[in-house]
Parts: sequence; C-alpha cells; structure tokens
Amino acid sequence: MKYLLSTLSILFLFISCNKAEKSNLNIIKEAIVTPYIPVLSFEAALAKADTILKTLTIDEKINLIGGHDFFFAEGVKKYNIPRLYMSDATQGIHIRRELPGQLEKSTAFPCPILMAATWNPALTQKIATSVGEECRAGGIHVLLAPGMNIYRISQNGRNFEYFGEDPYLTSRHIENYVVGIQNTGTISTLKHFLCNNNEFHRRRTNVIVDERTIHEIYTPAFQAGINAGALAVMTSYNQINGEYAGESKYVITDLLRNQLGFKGLVMSDWWSVWDPEKTMTSGMDLEMPGERIIDNPDLIAMGDIFVRSNAKRLLKESKVAETDIDRMAKHVIALSLEIGLDKHDIKDESYLTKFPEHEKIALQTAKEGIVLLKNNGVLPVSKDKKILITGDFVETMARGLGSAEVDGYNIVTMLNAFKTEFGNNLMYIKNPTNEELAKADIVLVSIGTLDSEGYDKPFALPKETNDKILNSATQNKNTIVIINSGGGLEMTPWNNQVAGIIYGWYVGQNGNTALAEIVSGKTNPSGKLPISIEKQFSDSPGGTYLPEGTELYTGWGPDMDMKEPMLNINYKEGVLVGYRWYDTKKINPLYAFGHGLSYTTFAFSDLKLSSKEMKATQNMKVTFTLTNNGNVDGAEVTQLYIQDPESSVVRPVKELKGFKKVFLKKGESAVIEMELMPRDLSFYDVTTKSWKAEAGQFNILVGNASDNIILKESLTYIEK
Ligand code: BGC
Repeated sequence: MKYLLSTLSILFLFISCNKAEKSNLNIIKEAIVTPYIPVLSFEAALAKADTILKTLTIDEKINLIGGHDFFFAEGVKKYNIPRLYMSDATQGIHIRRELPGQLEKSTAFPCPILMAATWNPALTQKIATSVGEECRAGGIHVLLAPGMNIYRISQNGRNFEYFGEDPYLTSRHIENYVVGIQNTGTISTLKHFLCNNNEFHRRRTNVIVDERTIHEIYTPAFQAGINAGALAVMTSYNQINGEYAGESKYVITDLLRNQLGFKGLVMSDWWSVWDPEKTMTSGMDLEMPGERIIDNPDLIAMGDIFVRSNAKRLLKESKVAETDIDRMAKHVIALSLEIGLDKHDIKDESYLTKFPEHEKIALQTAKEGIVLLKNNGVLPVSKDKKILITGDFVETMARGLGSAEVDGYNIVTMLNAFKTEFGNNLMYIKNPTNEELAKADIVLVSIGTLDSEGYDKPFALPKETNDKILNSATQNKNTIVIINSGGGLEMTPWNNQVAGIIYGWYVGQNGNTALAEIVSGKTNPSGKLPISIEKQFSDSPGGTYLPEGTELYTGWGPDMDMKEPMLNINYKEGVLVGYRWYDTKKINPLYAFGHGLSYTTFAFSDLKLSSKEMKATQNMKVTFTLTNNGNVDGAEVTQLYIQDPESSVVRPVKELKGFKKVFLKKGESAVIEMELMPRDLSFYDVTTKSWKAEAGQFNILVGNASDNIILKESLTYIEK
C-alpha cells in the first residue's frame, strides 16, 4: 500500500535505494515517511480543553469563536493558550507590513504549481520545512497553507497556489507539505474546502457537483492532508449544491469530519459566511476574520453577519445551543494544545540563520519544476551564441498576487540570471527592431500573466503578445518563448512557429538562475506538466463555465458584489477533469499532463507484475527498468496509470496511481518498483458510499507522460 487509507504506517513516499538481489541494478522504490505526531493527541487535547472551558464564562467562550484584528484568534492567557497569529501561505510567508513585529524578509519560493511540476514531493516537504522555520522566526502560529484546489479550468486566477489537475499527484505533495510544516511546530491549514476551483465571483458561485466527483477528484488531497496529521482546515467562499461551504453541515460535519475523519479545527475563509446560526450549527469552529468591518459597502450591507456578535442572541432564542459554542471554543483551545503551543513560545529567532539554506532549496525546486515544453534542437544554447532577450518579465520578477504574494529578497531577475550565465553575449533590448531580431543567434521572448485570487484570467493572450512572438519567429527561426504564469495559456497561435517553449510558472526569488542554466544546459530540465494545456479554452472540461451573460473582470471589487444573484457553475464533466477529460473525449491537448522534455533520452523496459491476479486483500508489485540512454545525466519522471477497460460506471481512460522521479547518469539503469493496492483500482460507489474495485481485467500502463505510454501489462482483479 502506498498511501494512508487503512494503516498509518504506510503514508509517505520517499526514495530508497537497495541493491537488487539478482541484478546489479539499483532498485528505486516508493517508500514511507511518518505522518506528523501531535504533541498531545486530539482526544487528550480535547479533554484538557474541556477542563479549561469549564472555568470560562460564556463571554470568554464567545470571544474564542470568531477572529480578532484580521489575523488572530484569541487565546486563554491564564492557561498559556496563546493568541494565535495566522499568516499566508503556501509559496512562502506573506509579510503583513502593517502588523507589528513582522519578519524583515521571507523567502519567495517557487509557486505550488511549480512544486507539483517537479514531481518530487520530497522537495515540497523541504520547502514546507523552510516555510515552517520562517514562521517560527516570525512568531507565526498558523500557516494558512497548503492550498490544494484542483485545476479544473486554466483560467482560475489561483491555479498557481495549487498543485495541478490530478488528485493523486496533489495528494503526494500535500502530505509532504503538512508534515514539513507541522514538524517545525507551526500549524498547517488545508484550504479551501471545497470546490473553490475558480475565482470568478467566488463568493457568488454555486458549484453543482455530484458525490462521486467530490470523492474521486476534489477530496483526495484533503484526505491525504488529514492522514498526514493536518490540524486545521479552511472552508471556501463558494456554495456547494446550494449552501455556502462554511455554513454547510453536509460539507463540514458529514463530509469533512465524518467521512474524511478530520478531527481538528475548522475555520472559515475571510468573510465567507453570512448566516451566524447556520455557521455555528454546521460544525464550523472559528469564523475569520471576525468582526473587522472592512471599508466595503457591499459587505457592510450584509448587516451583522458575525458569529461573535450574534452568539448570545442566538443562544437566548434557542437557535443555537451552548454545546455549539462549547464545541467551537474547545476546538480553538485544543489546536494549541495538540502542537504544544502552551509549552513554548512560537517565536524563535535562531531560525533566522536558516535563510541561506532556504534559498538553496528554492533554487533546487526551480531547477526541477521548470518544464521544457518544446525544443526543435535549439536548446541547450552554447555560450558563444549571441542572445537577444526581450519581453515582459526580464527586469521584474513575475509572481502570483493576492494573499499568497511573497516579496522575497536577493531577487535574481531574468536579466541578471542570463547575464551571469551568458555574460556579454546577452543583449537586452526592450523593443527590438526586426533587424536586431534577425541578427541575433537566439531570441528569448519573455511573456506571461500575473495571476491573483479574486478574479480569473483569460486563457488567450493579448493579440499584441501573440503578434510580438510571431514577428520574432518570422525574423528569427531560433525564437524561444519563456512563459511565467500560474497555469496554462493559449500557445496555439504561435506554437508551431517557435523553436522552443519553456514553462517557468512563477520561479521564486532565485529561480531565474535555474531558467538560465536550463537554457545553457548546465541544468538538464526535468519538470513535467501537472496539468494538461488545451489548444483552445473551449476544449477544456470547464470550457463553458462562465454563466451566460457574464464575462471576466479584473480587480477585487466584483468579488464582493453580494447584492447580485448567485451564479451556478455546473461541474457536468463529473470525474473527467484534466487528462481524464481529454483522453475520454478524444480531444488532443496542445501539451499533455505529464509532458516535459529533457536533454537526454530514457528507455523503459521489462514491465513485470508480481502476480497476474490481485485479490481484495492483496497488494501488487510493479517493476520496470529505466535506462538513461542519452548523452547527458538527467532525471525522468516515471508514471504509472491504471485503466479499467470495462466498468459499470464511466471511468476515465487512465488514472495516475504511481510516479517516481529518477535521476540517472548517462548510460545508467535502475529498476523502479511501485506498489498497487486494490483501492488504486477503485471508483467511489455512491450506492454503498464506499470505494469499489470491480472484478475483471485492469491494465497497468507505464510511461513518461499521459500521452506517452510505453509499457503495458494486464492483471485480473478478483473481488474475494
Ligand atoms: C484567501 C485565503 C487567505 C485569507 C487570509 C482570503 O482572501 O482566500 O486563502 O488565507 O484571505 O489572507
């Protein structure tokens, strides 16, 4: 078994190399690391919180169940329960300069979708540990991360904060993130539960989604985070099937707590609940940010929506019970006890010495997560070539905005990075003439988008951007496009004309060094897409998500426009998200999930299953050989998909159920070993409300991209 569903001991994957008994090849396996072990178990923390609660007045209890001063939850001083400081987020700490006692600087790591593109969750854990250490240095008790909403549509303004389109890949990163953060003593918050897959009018979106899709696509990453020991969960802005997530008993109590087994603290996203009675009886514990009225007429017009100011009235009117308030307050107190915050101060400035190490981890992640999409042979570029660089993000660092924004320090711009790598052979010209374009050996064109929460961005690039690229490609056949963006963009207008395309996502404060090294060949690219990039937006599963009569906007204003009616977003594609959609509908994306080029080549051979039959009580070993048969050292991401050719329900053509990034020197081979368990063959059966694998034939597919399956074997699943 590879991930924690039935036993805690088998949750995590990491590389371990053993010598094979019969051959000389290294065996590279998926293996395990331990989930976060709380300082005090949830049950013990709750019991202790209960004794504390008994000494508090009703006002003191109510004071605990809503936030204070925008980013704080109240503590109980006499019992050493600290006032909790909460901070964003997954790609590093967003420093709130307006608050006192803040860190002077925080590391801007590559964004989460780039972390996902490394296909190396161990690196994600290292980033999380680093972020946790910076939290400790800055006195941050609760990190409002990791974010893990699935990439349903390329236009989602927040895709950069998440880990792509596949639940399995996302889950492996999330469990590592949670362990990395919490082992430093900082609380991790899984967000946003649930189905916040677009930013377009996120507060007025009603997501219509079926139960099977919820379980197969939208909850597995949360399940992985819960199994890894995450202590907090944040609900989302949107409604789910007619109810706001943060007010929904189905979402919080039935699904999150009872079905997924989450025991810890549930908080709301900032101004996302409107009915205090519903909120308090849904299973919610903490309304954030509490009673700070921001200067927004639409929110003010919502009236007195806050839990704290309404709790006493609701109690008097018997609309809520004191046990509701107790449950909420108890969870807030228990949160600190579980991670031992009553025992030590969170702030520990000795962690400031770790920053240089964090920079190294950021750089390594960028090296592994930048994706070489296209290369007609122009790359790598030798250092004697005359390079012209131009475009949007040469002098400034492209990054995601909103609550996840991180300024960073020691910023390496693209210009500096390429100067360091190519010296005087690099020329930066803002608006090159055709003659200048034609004269260069190589032209690098930087383009992209600055994505943000609060609004979505168009998939199509502005006409001027496309024209600029096309003109460069016309003048110079060695035009390479470098893209910085939080998700897929439309490349069809010039994809065939350019010589190379590199997807840089948001590389973080020093990731441009990785980019320049990939261009020069000093670093061999090994990133793979954690998303499919469609040819045109209407090809994609959510391609028609904008309700009739609406259009995209920018800025945060319309996001707060609560007077307007709700907008239904129907997830009618069901479980067919990402490559599951393109495969099943036989629509070719421009670049497929899992795709990414290297400067070396790899051969896959010798696929073997430990048995031809698999029983419900059995796991199965899958092994195959990988050889670096090219001319340079490099890493390949081996990917294992399962396929159920015959099923009583619609199943995707293939589903990722294993992967391993493997570094091999040129000429070297290794045996890769993965383990499959019956759950990997299953779908969520809504009639029995459980996971079900149907007896019969399954295919095991192994390759290096979802559209490049190289090896195939079959097995028979026997239910009993
Ligand atoms: C975001 C959350 C974030 C919160 C606090 C909200 O706008 O949706 O992800 O944690 O703000 O900054």
